[in-house]
Amino acid sequence: MELEEIKRRLENWARGKKEGPVRMELHPTDMCNLKCTFCWKRKEKNPTRKELSETQLLRIVREAAKLGVREWIVSGGGEPLMRKKVTLRVLREIKKYRMWGLLTTNGTLLDEKDAIKLVKMGWDQVQFSIDGPNERINDFLRPPHSFKRAVKAVKTLRKVRKKLRSEKPYIGLNTVLSKMNFNRMDEMIKLADEIGAELVFFEPIYPGYSDIDLSIPKKASRELIRSVKKCEKLAKALGIDTNAREFLEVRLVDKSDLRRKILKEVKKVNGFVGAPCFRPWYLMGIKASGFSGCCSTFERGEFIQGKSLSEVWFGRVFTQLRNEMLNKQIPSYCSKCSIVVFNENRMLRRMIQDG
Ligand SMILES: C[S@@+](CC[C@H](N)C(=O)[O-])C[C@H]1O[C@@H](n2cnc3c(N)ncnc32)[C@H](O)[C@@H]1O
Ligand code: SF4
Ligand code: SF4
Repeated sequence: MELEEIKRRLENWARGKKEGPVRMELHPTDMCNLKCTFCWKRKEKNPTRKELSETQLLRIVREAAKLGVREWIVSGGGEPLMRKKVTLRVLREIKKYRMWGLLTTNGTLLDEKDAIKLVKMGWDQVQFSIDGPNERINDFLRPPHSFKRAVKAVKTLRKVRKKLRSEKPYIGLNTVLSKMNFNRMDEMIKLADEIGAELVFFEPIYPGYSDIDLSIPKKASRELIRSVKKCEKLAKALGIDTNAREFLEVRLVDKSDLRRKILKEVKKVNGFVGAPCFRPWYLMGIKASGFSGCCSTFERGEFIQGKSLSEVWFGRVFTQLRNEMLNKQIPSYCSKCSIVVFNENRMLRRMIQDG
């Protein structure tokens, strides 16, 4: 992650000098081949039929490179590999301009040919979504056979990487932490080690899309802390990277009043550094429909069609969102955000305050 570069640009914004985004989050499609129990796709009423075209997406990548973007998260929306040809061309374009990239996928559609393409283009990181250490838990949260298919994809990518003698892409697992798996974090590390993944990245669940309550029970704080500690110990022993430590601050895992907690963090901090979230100044998200926002979980923004990236990034809507953020008026959708974003903001705030 480009934290130093983000800090540098934030300091410039604070001095009145406008800067381009450091990070892009792109959803190539909203189509998906799965219907996971906890995902927003379950509640989706009108899936986007009109997606940004390949030409528009490639143009966005080129413009981003000119604007000084450094890193890309390509995710969904839906499953990026549902639009495989286009997504792989977009990834290749990102690498052509020497930007860093991460792809998040459910893994079920990734075959050996795709793995060879990813390795040969020098793609940097692939995160496979696996939400349980075994078939029973994962395939309760995700549709039947998802576990086997995702595990196969991880092994295929690892095998191809070895065959082509490449260190890249770095392979990770994305695990949504819920009541089904919060006490089995160490088992995710064991799984990663067994199948050839190098990182387990945990994200707390946003429970609002599921018909059953999947949130981690409020009374289970101690159990969660024990789980994190066990997980960290095993990760260290096996040499697997993880962000499990973030979950020690248990109060931030529950999202029901995350917005209030974000505001509390900066209640006594004034000026630019007291903005509750810095993402509007360094991250641009683009959904499959072309709807764009200046953060990751946005619900307010504008369509990029017919406009350049700069016009949107420096335009009226994004400027208004930034001004509101400076006045500590944060959007209601911040409650859907995450401890991971909270911590990134906290780290950036400290870096700026320390000079
Ligand atoms: C929406 S998916 C899109 C990419 C791809 N289809 C996949 O499953 O990896 C991106 C990430 O969001 C996670 N996710 C989905 N619903 C979530 C929720 N309610 N709370 C937290 N994370 C969620 C998924 O598990 C996945 O790791
Ligand atoms: S989490 Fe990913 S794979 Fe599952 S339904 Fe959502 S978009 Fe599809
Ligand atoms: S949802 Fe709120 S906290 Fe999350 S990235 Fe966007 S502005 Fe920041």
